[in-house]
Amino acid sequence: MDLTIYETCNAFRKSWTKLHKISKEGIPNVVPCGSTTAISPGTIVIAAVFLDKTIKNIKENPRVALTFHSPAPPKEKVSVEESSKVKAYQVKGSAQLITSGPVYEKVKEMVMKRLGEFALKMLKGALVIKVEEIYNLTPGPEAGKKIA
Ligand SMILES: Cc1cc2nc3c(=O)[nH]c(=O)nc-3n(C[C@H](O)[C@H](O)[C@H](O)COP(=O)(O)O)c2cc1C
Repeated sequence: MDLTIYETCNAFRKSWTKLHKISKEGIPNVVPCGSTTAISPGTIVIAAVFLDKTIKNIKENPRVALTFHSPAPPKEKVSVEESSKVKAYQVKGSAQLITSGPVYEKVKEMVMKRLGEFALKMLKGALVIKVEEIYNLTPGPEAGKKIA
């Protein structure tokens, strides 16, 4: 993950990350995730507070896809020119739910600080995603191309 992608992932709170999963029966599942953070160029972490089907699906198959992008233009201003200014990426990787160690402790701290005790009690763990592939989603000639 280069610096631009890393920064876009961490700036994503201005848009929302979508985490995609497929159940073992082949049913797709997609959820928005506000806590998505790149903790290193190859590692993304999500606080698993409300994730439910997503966690069940990950236990059956750890492969996930995430999309994130810099703020998009308002819909009334959408044009190819404006959309092509949005930095947008799709990450594919493997997810693991961890419930101990320094990364989990950091996530616990963040959940308590941002969401409070109610959410902390619901915390199921830290979803650690190892980045394996990155695709460009910005509209234009490079759309869909693998970049890492
Ligand atoms: C804007 C937004 C951000 C969210 N961020 C998170 C998050 O960071 N962690 C989490 O566990 N759930 C988060 N949720 C809740 C999940 O999107 C979703 O409700 C939950 O995963 C249950 O769906 P599932 O059973 O398909 O996993 C968020 C929901 C919204 C609307």
